[in-house]
Amino acid sequence: MEFQIKNSTIITKQKTECLVISIDSGKSQSDIVKDIDNLTNGLVSQLIKSGDISHELGKTTLLYQTNSDLKQKLLFVGCGKANDFGVAQAKKVIQAVIKELLAKKVKSIAWDLLAVNQSNSLQIAKQLPQIVSDITYRFDEFKTTKTPAPSLAKVTLLTGNKSNIDELTSNLLQGEIIANAITATKTIANMPSNVCNAKYLAEQGKQLGKLHTSLKVTCLGESELAKLNMNAYLAVGRGSQNESIMTIIEYQGAKDKKAQPYVLVGKGLTFDSGGISIKLAAGMDEMKYDMCGAATVYGVMQAVAELKLPINVVGVMAGCENMPDGNSYRPGDILTTMSGTTVEVINTDAEGRLVLCDALTYVERYNPKTVIDIATLTGACIVALGHHYTGVMGNNDKLVAQLVSASQKAEDKAWALPIDDQFQEQIKSTCADIVNAGGRDGGTITAACFLSRFTEKYQWAHLDIAGTAWKSGAQKGATGRPVAMLIQYLLDQ
Ligand code: BES
Ligand code: MN
Ligand code: ZN
Repeated sequence: MEFQIKNSTIITKQKTECLVISIDSGKSQSDIVKDIDNLTNGLVSQLIKSGDISHELGKTTLLYQTNSDLKQKLLFVGCGKANDFGVAQAKKVIQAVIKELLAKKVKSIAWDLLAVNQSNSLQIAKQLPQIVSDITYRFDEFKTTKTPAPSLAKVTLLTGNKSNIDELTSNLLQGEIIANAITATKTIANMPSNVCNAKYLAEQGKQLGKLHTSLKVTCLGESELAKLNMNAYLAVGRGSQNESIMTIIEYQGAKDKKAQPYVLVGKGLTFDSGGISIKLAAGMDEMKYDMCGAATVYGVMQAVAELKLPINVVGVMAGCENMPDGNSYRPGDILTTMSGTTVEVINTDAEGRLVLCDALTYVERYNPKTVIDIATLTGACIVALGHHYTGVMGNNDKLVAQLVSASQKAEDKAWALPIDDQFQEQIKSTCADIVNAGGRDGGTITAACFLSRFTEKYQWAHLDIAGTAWKSGAQKGATGRPVAMLIQYLLDQ
């Protein structure tokens, strides 16, 4: 599929099957008609007059008409309510339009950014490849009969503003790289646990390393983790037949090799049965997605390498499986973490924080600029924020604010939750330093409080993606979130 930008609103010269014109509802209907008429030699007024099309302001309308002279289908998109064609609105409209055109088997589309302001145009250029690849994505590796996904050969954005072209083109390219990163994350995350274990994550990491000389990939198995005293991490994987492996992907893009890196740590529970504190059967299949944090790290590292960002980044995929077994760790066990802090296990299903705490201690050695962990950590986060917002917490307000702002820019939303000291009370233990489960109330926050005990040496933020990383039901599948927001955060640095 090819994406491109062209400096033209002279649509009659465009040899695409379909032209889409987005109409700014801030303008009066007659102005819009005048604008388009100028570009189409009066075509629109003619069509309206003849009753072939009508344009209604105040709601999104799709007007579809074959221009027989030009052998080109024209689609006019009118946008409602807001005074401009904003990015969120544009996204919805573009989604609807592309779906409709794909159903009509259209192969090439030109989209005119007429009446879209400069900054929105740039955002739309970044979103467009992501929208198209989201619609055409299929996970059919295990289907014996595959239904081919509809595909587009070419999408062109038209702009009348010549000075805009370079920036639009670079945003479109960024959008393609982000789209490919999201696709990679989805595909790894969708893999079932009988294929995707910690070793599989390690192999994916190594393959990525082979594709880019800027990436160095290291894998630490159980014996190495044991030498490092990563006992909490190891305890979680003890009941599994699959080895726990931590995969580290280092990217060097800064001129200064020693420049402080941005560190990403992803929870990689390739299956979370709950362990001895076993989960209920209903919905347990979805715990194959408990490695979405690690899959996110993979996608972001792929994009960082492809974008050749001028910074250093370290990505950690903390691979592990939580299973019940004679060798499993138990409720009541007391673990000594890599940092020396002791943890009383209340619930073996609160395993993500045990894997992460040691990985977060491990990354101290990088003298990180910031550390962000990404984890499908708590069911409570779904109760708090539903499936729309990723939860953000951290020990640095500026970092949290930067992440929320990146999430808005990327249309991959996140919302900050408080983690002040009052919540720390809930993780006190009678026999160890802390417990691993702080009760039902504020469960997302007390999980972050647990992590905060291991991140005191650097600026840290935690993303709880339990509600956003995948969809259930008829649409079951990974979403590739929060890859877009994290890439935006790194682009902003
Ligand atoms: N992976 C789960 C969190 C989860 C649950 C994500 C449902 C998405 C959907 C995590 O390991 C877990 O089991 N957390 C427990 C913590 C509790 C025992 C303190 C939870 O949320 O119930
Ligand atoms: Mn669990
Ligand atoms: Zn889990």
